[in-house]
Formats: sequence, C-alpha cells, structure tokens
Amino acid sequence: MSENKSYNTINGYPTLRLGYAEVILLGRWNGLSNALYSLQKDNILWVQYNKNTALPIVETYTLLNGSVEVRYDGKSRLLKVGETIDASLYENTLFLYGNTDAELLIKTSYEEFEPEFFETQLLQEEADAIDALDGYTYNHCNRIKDYSLEVWTHLGLPKENIRILRWGAYFHDIGKRAIPIEVLNKPGELTACEWEIMKTHTIEGAKIMREHKVEWLKDAAIIVEQHHERYDGSGYPYGLKADEITLEASIVAVVDAFDAMTTNRVYKKALPIKDAIQELVNEKGKQFNPKIVDAFIEVLKRKNYKWE
Ligand SMILES: [Fe+2]
Repeated sequence: MSENKSYNTINGYPTLRLGYAEVILLGRWNGLSNALYSLQKDNILWVQYNKNTALPIVETYTLLNGSVEVRYDGKSRLLKVGETIDASLYENTLFLYGNTDAELLIKTSYEEFEPEFFETQLLQEEADAIDALDGYTYNHCNRIKDYSLEVWTHLGLPKENIRILRWGAYFHDIGKRAIPIEVLNKPGELTACEWEIMKTHTIEGAKIMREHKVEWLKDAAIIVEQHHERYDGSGYPYGLKADEITLEASIVAVVDAFDAMTTNRVYKKALPIKDAIQELVNEKGKQFNPKIVDAFIEVLKRKNYKWE
C-alpha cells in the first residue's frame, strides 16, 4: 500500500470512496475479506458473480441497516436486515438498490476481492482527477456508466464485458485531461482550430487507458476512442460506420448525447426529456445505432423517464 493517501483510508482501514458509496476493507478472516459497504440512497450496488475462476469463490452480502431492494430478472423484493445474499446462487447480474442509505457487510474470497479493491482505488484516483476538471463531470460520468450498463443488460449482451463497459463508460471523457483548460472551459463557441483540439480527447483518452497501470483498462480503451463515432460515418476520430463501431461505444454515444441534452449547463438550458427522446428517434440510423436507441428508450420507460 505504498500509494496510500489519506483519502484512501478511514482510521487506517483501506477505503474506496466511489461518490455513490464507500467501501471500507475491515480485514481478512479465514481467507475471506470483510468489507463494509455504505450504499447511498437511490444508488445501486451491482453484483455479478464470477464463475470463471479455478477456485470456488465465496461472495455474500448481509444487510446491516437501512432499506435495500433486491432486483433480479425483472422482479424485486425487500432485503431484511440481517439477511444474507449468496451471490453464487445468481447466474445474472443482481442489483441491490438503496431505498435509503444502507450498510452491507461483504464477505468475499480475498483473492477475488482485494486485487479488484486496490485496482478500483487506483481507478478512483483517475476519476477524482477528471472530477477536478469541472464540477459537472462526476455525476455525468456516473449516469453514463449506470445507464450504459442498464442498456447492455437490457439487450442481454455478455456479462463478461460488464467490467470493461463500466469503466469505459465512466472514463469516456478521460482524454479531456489532455485538453488545455482554456479550450475545455471556454465559455463561448470554439474556433475551428480549438474544436480540432477538443476532438483529440478521444484518441488521447484511449492512450491514457492503454498505458494505465491497471492492465485490463486497455480493453476499455476502444470505448473511449469510439464514443464520438456516428452510425452514418460522420463522427470522429475515424469516421467509422454502423457495425465498425463497437456496441459498447454505440451505447455510450446514445447515453452521453441524451445526458448532454437533458442537463443544464452554463451555456445552454436543458431540453425536456420528451424532446430529447424525440431527438434520439430523429437521429436513428444517422447519428445513432437504431437498436441502441430503442433499447435506451425501453430502459427509460422502465424507470418512468427519470433521469438522475
Ligand atoms: Fe466525449
């Protein structure tokens, strides 16, 4: 833990601050890592059991306090305080939704939990660096990540890609770190030249991902690289078309555009949700992959058109 910084520990315990949740690694007993997971109200803890390892993995979640809903395969129920969920019994992704702030005790085989915990700490440092660029970024990245994952799950796409999509979606704009701040935060319209610089955030971002010390981020680089490509080939940086663009990047493109349309920014007012949806529909087959637009609208419908 040579890289430990004060914000990475609480009372000496390694801590992960995710913004929507906090995870404190309490210690290792009988080969199991014990962690306290504080989930904030209206946020989701995604549970995807990993069956593809040589060792049998223990992974359980016990609700200590608060109200949490278990959502699985379109059904939901309340989790009782003291009740334990055994992740190995669930084939698909399980969602633990915080109706209130809640605390869960996670017990996991340490070989599975700890490398990911410490890697995520490193990723979180990246995320904090992006957040420092402007106040808008953090919530934006989280929304893009959550909705991208929902669209992916809705389409029944392979769950093995979820980790890559999660971080590719979250870091889609990581390349903005390489853009001069005067261009990035310019209040007025960008000149043609500044716009060209701005567009390089795709390639610069992919480079950061490929060179990152968290090895597997390389696989997420392509999402970052392609998130401004358009279905009809009019996007950047390469002008890729239709199936030349990965589904992951096509999803991020739709969700990102929707977020931009429906969020108030200093230089523009938010569009009402229904107008933004109409815009997505108008751009089906032009800017956006039609299949992804349809899936995203379904996901929105299921959430009663809430965007938060
Ligand atoms: Fe971008």
